[in-house]
Parts: sequence; C-alpha cells; structure tokens
Amino acid sequence: MAERRYLLRTFGCQMNEHDSERIAGLLTADGYVPTEEAAEAQVVVFNTCAIRENADNRLYGNLGHLRPLKVRNPRMRIVVAGCLVQKDGPRIQERAPWVDVVVGTHALPELLDLLRRAEAEGPQMDVREYTEVFPSALPARREVEHHAWVSVSVGCDNACTFCIVPLVRGPQRSRPIGDVLAEVQGLARRGVVEVTLLGQNVNTYGRDLTVPGSSRRPLFGDLLRSVNEVEGLRRIRFTSPHPHDFTPDVIDAMAEGEKVCEHIHFPLQSGSDRVLRAMRRSYRRERYLEWLGAIRAAIPGVAVSTDIIVGFPGETEEDFGDTLDVVERARFDQAYTFRYSPRPGTRAAQMPGQVPEGVVAERFERLVRLQEAISLARMLEQVGSAQEILVEGTGRKGRIQGRTRTNRVVHLDGEHRPGAFLDVRIVAAHPHHLDGELAAGVRGAQGASERERASVAPRGERGVRGAQGASERERASVAPVTGRSGRRSADAPGR
Ligand code: 5AD
Ligand code: SF4
Repeated sequence: MAERRYLLRTFGCQMNEHDSERIAGLLTADGYVPTEEAAEAQVVVFNTCAIRENADNRLYGNLGHLRPLKVRNPRMRIVVAGCLVQKDGPRIQERAPWVDVVVGTHALPELLDLLRRAEAEGPQMDVREYTEVFPSALPARREVEHHAWVSVSVGCDNACTFCIVPLVRGPQRSRPIGDVLAEVQGLARRGVVEVTLLGQNVNTYGRDLTVPGSSRRPLFGDLLRSVNEVEGLRRIRFTSPHPHDFTPDVIDAMAEGEKVCEHIHFPLQSGSDRVLRAMRRSYRRERYLEWLGAIRAAIPGVAVSTDIIVGFPGETEEDFGDTLDVVERARFDQAYTFRYSPRPGTRAAQMPGQVPEGVVAERFERLVRLQEAISLARMLEQVGSAQEILVEGTGRKGRIQGRTRTNRVVHLDGEHRPGAFLDVRIVAAHPHHLDGELAAGVRGAQGASERERASVAPRGERGVRGAQGASERERASVAPVTGRSGRRSADAPGR
C-alpha cells in the first residue's frame, strides 16, 4: 500500500507548536509520514491561532486553496485544530463545509478517532471545554532530538482585557508535578538536554492543585527545583510568565537551579499606568521596574525579553511616551511588539477610543526603532565574552546556529551536530544575533557539568570576559545570556 502522508501547518505560539508535535505524534503512530505537498497528503491539518486579527482570514484563505485539491481527491481529509476552533467551533464547517474534522485544543487525544469516524459518517467536530488528558501525555513527533516542550498547565485565570486566551483555553489547569517530572525524566533518558516548561501563565502553576494528604500546593518554584534535579538534563527554560507572579520563591528557584537558564520573559504590555489599568494588568510602571531590578540583582546577567502592545484603545501620545520611557529604562534585550488588534469577545474590543491605524503604525515604528538600538547595544556588550552554546542546527547562509543560556542566537562556522554544547567566544553583534568563534583550546565539553566546565580554565581565554573559574552565574553576570523561543513573530501565547 502506498504511504499515507500528512501535511501539518502550525500557526501561533509555542503552545500550538507543542500541540502540533502531538498531532504529528498521533498521525505517525497511525502510520502516516510527513509531507510538505498538499497534493500528495491524505490528511491536511491546520493548527490555528486566535491571537492575531487576521488569523481567521488566513485560515479561510488556506481552506479555500485546498478546496479544488479536495474536489480532485475526495479521499483527502482536512482537519482544523487549535485556538480558533475553541473560539469559532461550528462556524468553521458552516463556512467551509469541505472540512472533515474540527478538533478543539482539549480534544486532541480524540484526533485519530475523529478521522476514522469522518471516514464512515462524514464531518466531525469535538470542541469540548475541559482537558482530561494533557497533550504532553500523548506520543510526540518532535522536530529536534535535543529539545522538548513540556506542558505544565493549560488555560489562564487572569482577564487581561485585550486577550482571547482565557476565552479559548479556559481556566487554568495544572498537571500533577509527578506527571511533569516523569515526562522530563523520560525525555532526559532519551537524550533531551533542554526542556521548555509551557503554560499560558506558567508561574501560577499549581495554584489549582492539591497534594494528597497535605494542605500545601506545589508551586512553580517547587517544580523548577524538582526539574533541576533531573539527571542528564542541562538546560531548563519556561514560558510564559506574568510579572505579577514572579514571586521571590520563583526568583530564588531560578537563582539556585544551575540548569535554569538566565533568561526571563517579562511581558510589560504598556508603560502607562492608565493603560495598564484599562488592560487589567495588576502592576504599575514603577512596580514593574522595581521587580525587574530585583530579578537582575538576584540573577546577575539575566537577559530579559518582553511583549508590548501599541495602540490599546484610548492610548494617547502621552501614554505611548510612558511606554517609550519604560523601554529606555528597562533596557530589554528583545521585545516582541504587537499592534493592538481587537479580538471579538474581549472587553477591550468594546472600549471606546480605538486608535486609528495610521497612528498605531507610526507609534509602532518609533518603538521598534528605539528597541532595535537598545537590543544592539545589549548585544554589543557581549562581544569578547565566552559563552556556552547549544547547537540547534544550520541557520541562514549555511552557518551553525546555537543559543546561549540567555537565549541569544549565535552563528558560527564549522560542522557541529544539533544538541552539541560548544564553548565560543563572541566576536560580533547584530540586533538579533551574535557571531561567534569556537573558543581556542576548548573542547565541545559534553558530559561535563556546568559547574565542572565553569571551573576548567581553558587557555587562551584569559582576558576574555566571562572568566574561567567563575560560576555560570558569575559568567552570566558579565556575559548575560536568554530562552529558546527567540522567535520574533508576533504570535505567541498570551501572558
Ligand atoms: N492585540 C495585540 N497583541 C496582543 N497580544 C495578546 N492579545 C493581543 C491583542 N488583542 C500580545 C500580548 C501578549 C502576546 C502573546 O500577544 O503582548 O503578551
Ligand atoms: Fe492570561 Fe496572559 Fe492573556 Fe493575561 S495576557 S489573560 S495573563 S494569557
């Protein structure tokens, strides 16, 4: 029998990428192999995102393109999954009746069943409201061998007025700490050296859990400490946190855990107190900067990225000026900048004072220009430093691409397999990546622990910032580093 093939397109955030690994895992377990050609696919899956305004248009555009293929090949099965499904449910098959399966984010485990039923009975839909099986518990087909996403919670209990996430992903549900640990241990045994713990609001992990026989709830700090103990694992990242929930315990767990990478994503959203209030973000600008100062003091060299929305309803020039001011003072390493987009069903979409597109575009440009200059300045501070990178693969122009603990992308020449750790010296800086060279006299250093490596003083490294003998923290303090998803697309989970 000819091979059965699937084509999978993923939109949006890391949570969706994680779900897509599970979709691919389920299809692989059922004997499908991936393809990039819609014309030869028996199953085409769109894993959708609802954060961006034109996500709907994009989906229906894509579905429209598939229609003639489906007419030619009636056995093709078209699946729509993801957040847009939670939001639009039955409307998808009303608008595109040639879609065979509509599967919500909580119903992924049913995917194969739904496909089989579609075969026998026609179009299927499962948009349940509640997660029974965490997607992490499903088989996965991961893009890379050395890194894995691990979901620790789904949903969000906040109500930021711009955000669709609570509407589409529901209230927070945390995964028992034992399940998370068992998964991470299994991954580490299979050679995974870096995990990214995923949750819509990751640092409120555990608030909805109870520990049997105890009144105490496991908290995110406890989770970080436990994962830090997993043998074989070298790096831990997490996303996305809410500034309000960056409690001292989480900061301590980051500072103590030598595997927890020195990068935080700290979403500002706006630098104006008035706008923050309208967004229902619980902090104010000065408080935000205080927290940031405390984090930088506790974790020297930590790299900080953020999310900022431009043109929230009612944003005046003065409000926007406040955002620029905080951006200047915070000196973020990277910022993911978004033009405000009204999401139907959210409170902000009903607010008066929607800002005209031209004004938003002009402010957006100013913000990007300021942040690019700051990003470059932060990157320039890295030149001359010694850094450990984890090789991710081959990037543009055939150069190796790796990432520092602080999530900075480093390009260098040579042949190194994905998953290898290399010690490099930074030789040049750009706003979004660094150029590196293999540090003289330094071996790939696999196997050695961070502490051991840090205490080895490679010759030829003298005078290089990020001195030998210094601990990772000290090294990081002179050579700050950052998290995995250095992607600058405007799609990401709400935080
Ligand atoms: N418009 C623009 N940006 C948004 N984000 C979330 N919802 C919206 C919206 N309606 C941004 C926030 C969030 C990031 C993932 O996406 O900055 O942190
Ligand atoms: Fe929750 Fe983040 Fe959305 Fe706020 S922005 S509602 S914290 S997912």
